[in-house]
This record gives sequence, C-alpha cells and structure tokens, in this order.
Amino acid sequence: MEKENWTSADIRAIFRMDERYKSIQTLYNAEERGEIPKAERISRGKIQVRNWKQSQLPAIGSRFGFLPSPNRQLVICKYIQKGGVLKTTTSFNEARVYALNGIKTLIIGLDFECSITDVMLPKSQVMTLEQNHRSLGLYQFLAENAPINEIIQKTSLPTLDIIPETHDLVVLDKWLNQQKRREYIFKDRLLPLLSEYEVIIFDNGPSWQHLIENSITASNVLMCPLGCNLLAYNASETNLSSIFDFQQEMGIKDQIIVMFPTLLERSGLSQQIYAQYLSKFNSYIIPIPIRVSVKGQEALVCKQSILEYAPTSPLAQEYYELITAIWQKITGQNMEQTARRSNTAMMEIAQEE
Ligand SMILES: Nc1ncnc2c1ncn2[C@@H]1O[C@H](COP(=O)(O)OP(=O)(O)OP(=O)(O)O)[C@@H](O)[C@H]1O
Ligand SMILES: [Mg+2]
Repeated sequence: MEKENWTSADIRAIFRMDERYKSIQTLYNAEERGEIPKAERISRGKIQVRNWKQSQLPAIGSRFGFLPSPNRQLVICKYIQKGGVLKTTTSFNEARVYALNGIKTLIIGLDFECSITDVMLPKSQVMTLEQNHRSLGLYQFLAENAPINEIIQKTSLPTLDIIPETHDLVVLDKWLNQQKRREYIFKDRLLPLLSEYEVIIFDNGPSWQHLIENSITASNVLMCPLGCNLLAYNASETNLSSIFDFQQEMGIKDQIIVMFPTLLERSGLSQQIYAQYLSKFNSYIIPIPIRVSVKGQEALVCKQSILEYAPTSPLAQEYYELITAIWQKITGQNMEQTARRSNTAMMEIAQEE
C-alpha cells in the first residue's frame, strides 16, 4: 500500500535535507513563500502538524531534492543477459527517485514477463489493461498506429509515467524482425514523440532479442547491474561481450556505460567477486554495492522506492549514494558532496579488504 501523507520529518528524510540545510525552518519558509505546495494542517493533540500528499512530493523535490535537472535528455537502457540481478528493482528505484526529485521520467517495460509493470501499476489497472479487447502497448503504437498518449499510463507521482508491458511484446519482437532498419525503430519512431521526458528508462528482460537491440540503439546510457554471486560472475564476461559486440556492429560510440554491483552478501565469496568486478570493470563501475536485503523486496510490494519505504535504513543510504553517483556520471554535473561520499565509501571498502 502506498503512503499517502507525508510529514515534514518524512520530507526531510527522503530528500536527505539534513546534509544540506541547517534547519527544517527552511522548508516552512519555502511553504510560506509559495515555493512549494501548501501542506494540510492536521491536529495532533494541541499541536498542528503539516501533512503533504504523495502527489505533491515532486514539486517539493524540485526545490529541495538532491538531484539537479539534467541538461540533456537521458535515455537509459537497463540490460545484462542475466536474470535476477536487480535490473527491474533498480530501474524502479531510480525512476521513482528521479521523479521524486521533480525530474520528468518515463519507464518503458520491455520484459515479456511484465515485471516492471507489475511493480509499478496497481493490480486492478494491470487487469483492466489486459481485459481490454485491444490491449494498448508498444505493438499497437508501432504496428497499428495507436496514438502515443493512449499507450502511456500515469502513476501515483505526476512526474512518473510508464509504457507498460503487454503480452503483445512477443508479437512486436517478431514484427521488428521483418522491418527495414529493424534495430532503429525505437530511435526513429518512438523517441521523437517522447521529448517532454527528461529521463527515459528501458527495463529489459534477461534474454537477447530485437527489443533489446532497439533499446540499446535508442539509448545514450547503458546500465548493467552485476550480481555479486558465482552464477552472475561466471556469466559476466560473455554477457558483456555480446553487448560490446553489438555496439561495435552498430557503430555506437558515445554511449555512457555504467555498471554497479548488486546482491552483495557478507560471505567471503561474494566479497571477492565484488572486488573482482571493481578491478575488471574499473572504468565503468560505480563502487557502491546494493546489498541483499529483505527491505528491498518489501519496498517493491508496497510500490515504493526504498527511500520512501525505509528512508533511514542502510539499504536506503546505499541507493541514495548509488543514484547520486550514477547521476553525477551520466549528467556530467559536479555534485561535490556526492564525490566526497563515494570517496568515503571507497575508503571503507579498502579497510574492509
Ligand atoms: N536488496 C535486495 N536483496 C535481495 N533481493 C532483492 C533486493 N531487491 C530486490 N530483490 C528481489 O530480487 C528479485 C530479483 O530482482 P529483479 O526482478 O529486479 O531482477 P531482474 O534482474 O530484473 O530479473 P529478470 O532478469 O528476471 O528481469 C526480486 O524478487 C526482488 O524482489
Ligand atoms: Mg527484470
């Protein structure tokens, strides 16, 4: 269930305000001056407490968030040919955190299993989509000329939209195979209609097909989560080389590649794999790992990012540091505080080793 009411303490926690503002009075002053939406006043005993609605958060994030707007559109392809390494979970958390910061974000689900759609939309909305005689998705837009605004769904945040997966994605994959310039269909026909979004994230399934080729070709950022377990590690080299081969074949040169470690465990093996990733993929990797944690799953069930669900948890801190570092890398914006924090994280890792 999504949380509807947000107190000033909640706002301070999700936007990490303590790190940048001396007192909560700054928030109240901004409300007074009309820079952020007005909160409802709710009586708690003798005092009145401010309560903001969830839909008001992005407007507060535009003023007090920790991510500045990007200076160009970022199109992110989340992919690695390995299942269960948090592709969908991190896409969801990133998208939600960008949107909370007031950044207009669109998620495009490309997994036949409909994973990001199930995480983002309420069950009733997914059922309605499926029960419609003509379920509307990317296939209907590309092959049957359905209008783009009919395939985009709203979410509980005004800055976050989704093009949900439908079962016709299988048909779309076959259809793409028969088209001329079949790797460029998203780039040529989909992206030009999505210029209002500051960030677009393609969430891919684990196996290679035409939807993935299209999403790589359309993106300026390629993001690969690397699972810190043996199966993911053994597969990593082969998996990444298929991506690099494709980039070369298509002549893609200026794509930013971002990797980050996920599913880190306390075990010696997991820690060793983590250290291997850092040295092997040195120029691409952001050394802030996402640990195995049940809170990560709980937040998904509640359809919230971990920063909303458990803002003071260690997992929320990891996501905060990872997302800020990713943002710095992909926007090229200098965020001094982030740099300082990642340095501390690296020093801690060095000490652990
Ligand atoms: N921090 C975490 N620790 C452990 N498990 C997690 C964590 N966060 C999410 N999970 C769970 O891990 C599972 C796999 O995550 P996810 O679906 O994001 O992987 P994926 O790479 O998208 O998989 P697929 O290749 O099938 O698309 C999910 O069941 C999710 O709930
Ligand atoms: Mg997935």
